[in-house]
Amino acid sequence: MEHLLKLSSLTPDEIIHILDVADEYKRLHKAGTDPKDLQGKAIALMFGKHSTRTRTSLEVGIYQMGGLGNYMNTSELQAGRGEPLKDTARVLGRYYDCVVWRTYRQSDLEEFAEFAGVPVINGLTDFCHPCQVLADLMTIRERRGTLAGRKLCFVGDGGSMANSLIVGGLLAGMQVTCVCPEAYRPAADVLMLAHKYGSQFHFTSDPVEGVRDADVVATAVWNTAAPGTAESEQRLRDFVGFQLTGRLLENAKPNALVLHCLPAHRGEEISTALFEQHADEIFDEAENRLHVQKAVLAVLLAGK
Ligand code: CP
Repeated sequence: MEHLLKLSSLTPDEIIHILDVADEYKRLHKAGTDPKDLQGKAIALMFGKHSTRTRTSLEVGIYQMGGLGNYMNTSELQAGRGEPLKDTARVLGRYYDCVVWRTYRQSDLEEFAEFAGVPVINGLTDFCHPCQVLADLMTIRERRGTLAGRKLCFVGDGGSMANSLIVGGLLAGMQVTCVCPEAYRPAADVLMLAHKYGSQFHFTSDPVEGVRDADVVATAVWNTAAPGTAESEQRLRDFVGFQLTGRLLENAKPNALVLHCLPAHRGEEISTALFEQHADEIFDEAENRLHVQKAVLAVLLAGK
């Protein structure tokens, strides 16, 4: 594994290996014996968008591993004043052992990785969120023991979380259902890949049908526009019925897990009551970002 840019570049074995390493890092952390596997390594943490979990879990995780994590706001680099991406990549690649980047276009991330000469990790693009979905898979396996054969249902906007949950769930052997309004379908190439899995994948715009018999129901913010804008008002209309509620979850398996990558808009994609009922697993999911990203760093930097 050279980079972590999107989950479709990983094999099922590579995903399970990352989860195994993450479980071990979590166990060691709880035992108070964090291994200093990043001693002498420096990781650039470039963020072009807001972040709470991704930024801080990486900063803390790298510290626990004995490395240096340098946060930088992309707009404050010369890149924010027009320095070409490939030049930024070639410079940072000479200072750092690895670069994490949260940005907009997946194509920019892939161009950066081509020129950096060191492993690059996707900290979220408009296309996908692989670190988050690895933490989701870790949380499901931790709570249910296995992934293969379990039914994972995503309800919401067919954006980065939908794209990564579909790919990650299918690679992990899960049955995956994606529920989005027709106008908010996942990326075409993700759907094409998913359809190769035959009956292991199902797309629908009916939340009741989608969550039926699910072991895990996941959602993410779908009202991403600024409050009060025309786009926000449009999204509120388009996503009527796409809120996870206790009533909707009655169609899932009893004791189904509810996951949310956070931040949550209570009363939009999830009801306040359901969020609080499942807060334990949702905040385990947030915690697992820490452990799983340590595993990703270890796997990428092993032997370098
Ligand atoms: N889920 C997630 O990526 O959270 P942040 O935006 O806070 O990093």
